Amino acid sequence: MPKFHHLKIKEVRRETDECVSVAFEVPEALQPEYQFTQGQHLTLKTELDGEEVRRSYSICASPYDGVLRVAIKKLEGGRFSTFANEKLKAGDALDVMTPMGRFFTELDPANEKSYVAFAAGSGITPVLSIMKAVLQREPKSEFTLFYGNRRADTIIFHEEIEGLKNEYMGRLSVHHVLSRELQGSDLFSGRIDGKKLGAFCDRLIDPEEVDEYFLCGPEAMIHDIRDTLAGMGVDKKKIHFELFVAGLNGKTQKKKKAEAQSVAATIRITLDGNSFEFPLTSAEDTILEAAQKVGANLPFACKGGVCCTCRAKLLEGDVEMEANYALEPDELEAGYILTCQSHPKTGRVVVDFDS
Ligand code: FES
Repeated sequence: MPKFHHLKIKEVRRETDECVSVAFEVPEALQPEYQFTQGQHLTLKTELDGEEVRRSYSICASPYDGVLRVAIKKLEGGRFSTFANEKLKAGDALDVMTPMGRFFTELDPANEKSYVAFAAGSGITPVLSIMKAVLQREPKSEFTLFYGNRRADTIIFHEEIEGLKNEYMGRLSVHHVLSRELQGSDLFSGRIDGKKLGAFCDRLIDPEEVDEYFLCGPEAMIHDIRDTLAGMGVDKKKIHFELFVAGLNGKTQKKKKAEAQSVAATIRITLDGNSFEFPLTSAEDTILEAAQKVGANLPFACKGGVCCTCRAKLLEGDVEMEANYALEPDELEAGYILTCQSHPKTGRVVVDFDS
């Protein structure tokens, strides 16, 4: 079960004009709970103007770096990201949820793999974690990064990536693609999309030789690259992707809310061994929202169907989910749902967070 602990901030480092990275102090007793895998994220919680605000941010460190650090890019109108970029400092403390997420593949020092990643903007954050972990843990593997940004001065972790190129010369290739700054070649100007991927495959990578692809950026980029790779015959199992987790605020992906066929229902929830029951009175509410109305403290972070923090097993009844960017087909098959996206379709729904 994900859990919050109050952690002190060790360092707030400015990465670009619009982005800071924040490192936390993890007391010895809590270190096992904050062990993370490359590519995972943390949910941060604090009170801003008397209101609780939660946001999820990807970890930018590798598990072998010995530090727990996330990157926070300032978003226009983003309450938490503006606070973090303008006010947060070493010595402050935040509630930090234990790490979550499955944007990774298992590493093995015996592997001789070829990894290719496509990242845009702050989508670099989990990709940097994965890239460092691969280079550190798999001495015979190679990594190629295509990284899209507006201009050179908005490239997050620019120096760190350059440092890695020198440290892992011959095993790490980095190609910057800039949309608002002219580069010497057309190949590296514009946005990363399916067409550009075709050009990269003609000149820089052979899709048949790539073992794993990692994609992180806006939804349109992810879908375009994924579909183009699938069209080239790449096995979908090799394509791993993560939508931007940073800054999700609950309004994201609420596409189907109006169409959701919800019914008035009784909901029974089991969490941490305790069970309780309550009515869902508004068809607009998801199970999570209905539970919050009666004061239940269920785990959640993004409220956008992305982070998987609100996952629970449906033991009885049926639900309709508005969006699902987090559950794998085998989890759906096993009856797992995202409670932040689920509307009851039957008069009684029984949900277990402990399964
Ligand atoms: S809270 Fe993130 S998927 Fe439900």
